[in-house]
Amino acid sequence: MKQTVFIKDLRNLDQQEVTLHGWVVGKRSGGKIVFLLIRDGTGTCQCIVEAAQKELFDTASSLGQESSLSITGKIRLDSRAPGGAEMSVTGLQPIQVADNFPIARKSHGIDFLMTHRHLWLRSPRQTAILRIRHTLIRAVRRFFDDNGFTLIDTPILSPGAAEGAGTLFPVDYFGEEVYLAQTGQLYLESAAMALGKVYCFGPTFRAEKSKTRRHLTEFWMVEPEIAFAELPDLAEVAEAMLCALVDSVLKVHREDLAFLGRDVAALEKIKPPFPRITYTEAVELLHSPDVRARIEKELQADRERLQQWIGELDGAEKQRAVAKPGWPSDKLDQQLQDLRERIHELDIDIAHRTEHLSDAQRFEWGNDFGGDEETIISRHFDRPVVVTKYPRRVKAFYMKVAPDNPEVVLNMDVLAPEGYGEIVGGSQREDQLDVLLKRMAEEGMNTAPYEWYLDLRRYGSVPHGGFGLGIERTVSWICGLKHIRETIPFPRLMGRIYP
Ligand code: 4AD
Ligand code: MG
Repeated sequence: MKQTVFIKDLRNLDQQEVTLHGWVVGKRSGGKIVFLLIRDGTGTCQCIVEAAQKELFDTASSLGQESSLSITGKIRLDSRAPGGAEMSVTGLQPIQVADNFPIARKSHGIDFLMTHRHLWLRSPRQTAILRIRHTLIRAVRRFFDDNGFTLIDTPILSPGAAEGAGTLFPVDYFGEEVYLAQTGQLYLESAAMALGKVYCFGPTFRAEKSKTRRHLTEFWMVEPEIAFAELPDLAEVAEAMLCALVDSVLKVHREDLAFLGRDVAALEKIKPPFPRITYTEAVELLHSPDVRARIEKELQADRERLQQWIGELDGAEKQRAVAKPGWPSDKLDQQLQDLRERIHELDIDIAHRTEHLSDAQRFEWGNDFGGDEETIISRHFDRPVVVTKYPRRVKAFYMKVAPDNPEVVLNMDVLAPEGYGEIVGGSQREDQLDVLLKRMAEEGMNTAPYEWYLDLRRYGSVPHGGFGLGIERTVSWICGLKHIRETIPFPRLMGRIYP
């Protein structure tokens, strides 16, 4: 009897005849045999069609990359085969024969891939990232659900700013200008006064005019908010959450992480306690001669690596010049291209880091950290670092002013290691009506749209706070990616809205 099964289950189906439904990843012919590599979203399987079965052989030979099909045959387990099983094909039903799939094996530039994102998603690298993202989101929900938090859905359309007017996306709301949510936080504070521990999880919008590897204009953020919580409590929740997230990805996705080339040992170090430093201590770190020496040593090692690669490139180019046309030179061309790309990337990276280093030395207390400073601070630790008490002037109006120093607020940013930088931003909230009003006046804010928010300080105000975790930045860190654009199925970036 024929069965319909998924490739991931083939290891239990040795010697059985099954039908798979999927797509052609690749085709190779060896004279009397055609090898079709088939994927179905759960794995890949090599399927063998022999010339003796003329009709099958002709059909198989006609299938281009990404053709869809149903394919039937007998399964044979073989540890040498990709995916561990092979199929001897007895039947083949093309569903749609594709020709000239735009994303061939050869590497494409990032612009091309981004424009073909709808097809690029099928690549093993992209599916690995999407699976990890899925697990991370499940783990986020499980963490809060299991720790007594109630899920609150906060609105996407909002009448005012919460995270600064500079990054608002305006929407025409029946003739009135409203904005896409920059955060659910202010609404969540109301819900925390009703339920104690709450969280929201949804799409978040920021008209970020920065083209960096960390910024999207649409991203997903999970935000817990806790009544009767103070800053140290928030740091503890963030620490426990991040450990739980990394743990669950490590449990399920060792293979995917290895495929992405992620250094798993670095993730295994993500255990409590995380270091906690103040903003002022972080500034001292930026100025410290030890840090400077460490970075200069790293830079020197990378410059030597660069020289070595340039030497390798030279050798490979000479080899290519004398290679015959056909397969070996195609392979050499691919190697040359990869090497040139690696050299280019490292070269730019070294230039950036050299510049960051001198910027960091000049950093003045009172400014906000940018990506460069965060990179240096977060590279200093092998686990996420909690940085607290930033200058009041660079932070949002709702953050509680420190009772012992009115120049700073009771906030925290958690910076991911290996240079990834801020993944969590949060604070204790200003819970005193008069202080909050003073802060809003200082920021030149019109209080009328916030009357409802001020009510929370009029009726049973309590110390409370929370934070936001950006899902994409976390995926980027956990997967070890160079850019945030691969962490979300269809990234929205400044200058990119297609597809
Ligand atoms: O630090 P942020 O702006 O904090 C808030 O929005 C607070 N209202 C959260 C709270 O206290 N409830 O953003 C929180 C996190 C950042 O640490 C970062 O991970 C992510 O959201 N984030 C972005 N991710 C991608 N692209 C952007 N443009 C992002 N802006 C913030
Ligand atoms: Mg922030």
